[in-house]
Amino acid sequence: MAKAKKKSKPKVVKAKKASKKASKKPAAKKTNGLPSPSKKPFGQAGLALEGVRILDFTHVQSGPTCTQLLAWFGADVIKVERPGVGDITRGQLVDVKGADSLYFTMLNHNKRSITIDSKHKKGKEILDRLIKECDVLVENFAPGALDRMGLTWEHIHKLNPRMIVASVKGFGPGPYEDCKVYENVAQCTGGSASTTGFRDGPPLVTGAQIGDSGTGLHLALGIVTALYQRSRTGRGQKVLCAMQDGVLNLARVKLRDQQRLKHGPLTEYSQYGEGVPFGDAVPRAGNDSGGGQPGRILKCKGAPEDPNAYIYFITQAPVWDSICDVIGEPTWKTDPEYSTPKARLPKLNAIFARIEKWTMSKTKFEAMDILNKYDIPCGPILSMKELAADQSLRKTGTVVEVDHPKRGKYLSVGNPIKMSASRSRR
Ligand code: COA
Repeated sequence: MAKAKKKSKPKVVKAKKASKKASKKPAAKKTNGLPSPSKKPFGQAGLALEGVRILDFTHVQSGPTCTQLLAWFGADVIKVERPGVGDITRGQLVDVKGADSLYFTMLNHNKRSITIDSKHKKGKEILDRLIKECDVLVENFAPGALDRMGLTWEHIHKLNPRMIVASVKGFGPGPYEDCKVYENVAQCTGGSASTTGFRDGPPLVTGAQIGDSGTGLHLALGIVTALYQRSRTGRGQKVLCAMQDGVLNLARVKLRDQQRLKHGPLTEYSQYGEGVPFGDAVPRAGNDSGGGQPGRILKCKGAPEDPNAYIYFITQAPVWDSICDVIGEPTWKTDPEYSTPKARLPKLNAIFARIEKWTMSKTKFEAMDILNKYDIPCGPILSMKELAADQSLRKTGTVVEVDHPKRGKYLSVGNPIKMSASRSRR
């Protein structure tokens, strides 16, 4: 961290000059929606985690998403891979022969790389040196693997008492703590799968990688929190994020509903209106909204031939009158059968069928434009093709084009966290 101070000196001088100019003109708004970065004290080159060095022992997805986030904020990430093997994702889902897969590059493009055999005497010596020089060791090996390499907490802490050791594991302490875990296992054991899908179908996993990337995100927060605490105590600590815990945290509204079940049916779930009794566990709710305001995915012009010609539509109570006007049912505003949220709950299927008649007369984008004028919450179902072509996401750096020596240009997701005084390093 001391290094960062050294580096910042010349930048402070430059910033003074620049700030004189800046005072004449109000700072222009950046395309990411935030004010331009402050020119003091680090100026345009500001990187929030500059000077933090990460020994990155991560592989596959959960750990690499964590260290990628830290590298975006300026941390120097040194990724250690096993000689001759490397991160297994380098060779998974290969699309361009001879090039690392997109799976690997999209999670690791902002890191340095080194191969070390952590079980070899020489490898151990190099690792001990790196441990002395780094601030954080991040790993997501199977339970016990780090200890089997000799890198126990005691060993690491003796070499470097300031070291933060951050781990992803599938489960926390308990009956499953020794299990190896992948994304969908976490989705299933963290409560997401049992509450996703339709009531009359099997549990479903989601496309968003809430077990892997979600846990990586949790771990990154644990690391920066530990770094903050270290600035007061001078000591490192262990940080553990279990994938099951991370998924459950993201599925917390369903644990809320589990407890509400004791007090009667969940009236905002479609099955209530359909007269289907509730069991003793939270059921799958299809596309019902999780927030208590009834919502559904409805067909738009082009559906079902176009698999993504749909819009999410929420019948939020404060805008009910506008909804009635837009869909051409103005009498529903005052009709006691429809005018209150409680009266509408048993009729949600019929109400959404009527709204769908309207949405089917518009494309998803036309419907979005009209509904937004009335603050009616809605969202078109955007395909990955549409997101890849979206110019506003390119401008904010949320989707970035990266040049690769072997595969040429490809798209990656850029840092989704925008800060006004810290740039993102790609
Ligand atoms: N030098 C020498 N050995 C190395 C090494 C290196 N640089 N890097 C890894 N290894 C060894 C490990 O020490 C381990 O050996 P051991 O079992 O003899 O102790 C071996 O490689 C395999 O590591 P492991 O982590 O068990 O990999 P895996 O491919 O068998 O399992 C996971 C993969 C993801 C299931 C497992 O790592 C895991 O459960 N991780 C925690 C949860 C997680 O992050 N899951 C999501 C991944 S996206």
